[in-house]
Amino acid sequence: MECIDAGDYKIELGGLLASSFEQLLAGYASAKKVIIVDENTHEHCLSSLITSFEALNEAEVILLPEGEENKQMEVAFGVWEALTEYEISRHDLIINLGGGMITDIGGFIASCFKRGCSFVNIPTSLLGMVDASIGGKTGVSLGHFKNQIGVFSNPKAVFIDTSFLETLPSVELYSGLAEMIKHGLIQDKMLFNRVVEQYSDVKQLNQVLLKDCIEVKNTLVKQDPMELGLRKKLNFGHTVGHAIEGHYMNSLKLSHGHAIAIGMLIEAFISIEHASLNEDDFKCIEKFITSNYVVPNFTEEDIDSMVEMLGNDKKNRGGEILTCLIPEIGVCNYDISLSKKVFFEAFKAFKK
Ligand SMILES: NC(=O)c1ccc[n+]([C@@H]2O[C@H](COP(=O)([O-])OP(=O)(O)OC[C@H]3O[C@@H](n4cnc5c(N)ncnc54)[C@H](O)[C@@H]3O)[C@@H](O)[C@H]2O)c1
Repeated sequence: MECIDAGDYKIELGGLLASSFEQLLAGYASAKKVIIVDENTHEHCLSSLITSFEALNEAEVILLPEGEENKQMEVAFGVWEALTEYEISRHDLIINLGGGMITDIGGFIASCFKRGCSFVNIPTSLLGMVDASIGGKTGVSLGHFKNQIGVFSNPKAVFIDTSFLETLPSVELYSGLAEMIKHGLIQDKMLFNRVVEQYSDVKQLNQVLLKDCIEVKNTLVKQDPMELGLRKKLNFGHTVGHAIEGHYMNSLKLSHGHAIAIGMLIEAFISIEHASLNEDDFKCIEKFITSNYVVPNFTEEDIDSMVEMLGNDKKNRGGEILTCLIPEIGVCNYDISLSKKVFFEAFKAFKK
């Protein structure tokens, strides 16, 4: 069992049975437990959790519709009503069992309910394990605008059990892979190379690699929990990626990681001119991303609409679009102010 110190909580990496989850549940012996799942984690992950821990036999289960388009306020309202019906108090425990959609919305629901109810995250997707379940960002989207409403709020603990990945569809493994690549691109060239070398066996992911990817995020978050500076590096690929994800939310329905991978490709392209990224590094990034993720067939209208969405990005200040660029693999600069025109030209460069 690997234990990572995340400040006021711990991330445990290894089998759930060997973790301190049972101990944590014992601390909530007289409390009610609520497990939030989506359709897929209800089918593939819930029964193994409940049958492994007697303390969960009586837990209430709240089932949410699967998919990013359901990470919305209306869905949160429904859960708050259910929690009220179950007479859940601030001293009870919410367990988020799912990918990033569930840990984001579940964390948000718990944090706002009765001014803050305890919650733990048990991520079941690769993306959730290496990224979404850690760092304390919780929230929902507002229509197409990603994560517009939310709060910083830490779970009591995060328990990562890679056996949940056995049922995760391959497209979702690749989604998580994109965030692992990002962690290498922004902070550690060796890590980037290791992920590129080992990704083809993504189902057999080496625990050390997973832990090193988690450490990149955890270290940045610990230094800057409220994203005032260094933590912004984790947004590499996300200025463009969120616009792509939001734009195609109801059509292509790209996975989060897929959209971020294309976002990283375009932001790396912009980095050539605006951060002096060398051509060799760019080609290496381009080769990896384009051989694993399809670049959507952008039309002029798609590009106009995505560039328009950039104006509403959470990272912006005073009307400027602020983004991250990489001067080389393993180094990331943040708060770079760029005009919409730069993004417009970059999107156009990838238009088929
Ligand atoms: N809070 C953060 O810091 C942070 C960071 C990165 C991403 N995110 C958010 O995370 C979300 C993306 O996460 P995600 O890719 O995990 O999305 P997700 O939760 O929608 O999961 C992707 C798909 O995999 C399914 N699934 C999950 N676990 C499964 C399993 N074990 N077996 C079978 N199917 C399974 C889900 O039902 C869903 O269909 C986005 O909303 C993104 O904004 C948040």
